[in-house]
Amino acid sequence: MALRSKILGCGSYLPENCVTNGELAKTVDTSDDWIVARTGIKQRHLAQEGELTSDLARKAALKAIEHAGIDIQEIDLIILGTTTPDNTFPSTATKVQAQLGLTHGFAMDVQAVCSGFMYALATADNFLKAGQGKTALVIGAETFSRLLDWEDRTTCVLFGDGAGAVILRAEESDESVGILSTHLHSDGRHQDILIVDGGPSLTQTTGHVRMAGKEVFRHAVVNLAEVVKEALEANGLSSDDIDWIVPHQANKRILDGTAKKLKISADKVVVTVDKHANTSAASIPLALDAAVQDGRIKRGDLLILEAMGGGLTWGSALVRW
Ligand code: ACO
Repeated sequence: MALRSKILGCGSYLPENCVTNGELAKTVDTSDDWIVARTGIKQRHLAQEGELTSDLARKAALKAIEHAGIDIQEIDLIILGTTTPDNTFPSTATKVQAQLGLTHGFAMDVQAVCSGFMYALATADNFLKAGQGKTALVIGAETFSRLLDWEDRTTCVLFGDGAGAVILRAEESDESVGILSTHLHSDGRHQDILIVDGGPSLTQTTGHVRMAGKEVFRHAVVNLAEVVKEALEANGLSSDDIDWIVPHQANKRILDGTAKKLKISADKVVVTVDKHANTSAASIPLALDAAVQDGRIKRGDLLILEAMGGGLTWGSALVRW
């Protein structure tokens, strides 16, 4: 028997305001053809004025709670991955905790940019396996549009806003179910290739995203393939055993390149980047929820979740759904 975190349910939320590439091209020097060819992105959802990361997070969380069929009061801990908190402090997680009417347990943010959901999931999994709580709400939520320089066409076309969430429950089991293992990495030497050029300590401003796209691309394909192999080896499995890759949704070409490197068929990759662009920490649970709701992911399927983002940070989780 081993204590494992089982995923009881998932949910997601995208802001109502949907902006197509064509609409964006009216204000930015770009085109639908360029964006689709280089990234696969067709549209993104942007939070309206006054719509906050905590609002998106709460809406996704409520859907996950309903899907899991649990009572809100059963939640012992909330771990929220975000790089776009409502405030510099308090954490967005504590805001969501209050909005859900929870006063017990604890809530905290983790910040690993596009790897935020992997870091949040691994953190929650480890708390549960250590016996520090039984039920966890894990959220990835972003209003990344607030960090964009809308005059920089090399970055602003790539990102969008959204949120996704899962409910984890610690259960003793002799079967290999739930989160089988998580694998996190970072390498701060490469921080400058994907960075926000402001912050409370550095400039006392929020700053904007700056990115050396080609270099990020190269690191992404190599690191993601490696961290998937690491997860498979740790569990004595091979890429043939995988039913679904649920990747961070940055760019269709990164998804294709990683699957090819792993010799996994493109049919097994869950792709939603076309519908919401890169939503940073929100993108894995958004993709997961889409494939669970449309029936592609079924109980018993083997999933590999993976992401890379600023830091650089990257990670994977092998999950028996
Ligand atoms: N519309 C039209 N033209 C553009 C645009 C745009 N939005 N952006 C750049 N261009 C132009 C450039 O100015 C350049 O023109 P030039 O040749 O006259 O100088 C030309 O297009 C080619 O630019 P490149 O930067 O060489 O384009 P590239 O093929 O590398 O694609 C891209 C750029 C899409 C950013 C790619 O490098 C990429 O996807 N990188 C990964 C970045 C990423 O996904 N980051 C997300 C965070 S990290 C993560 O999630 C993994």
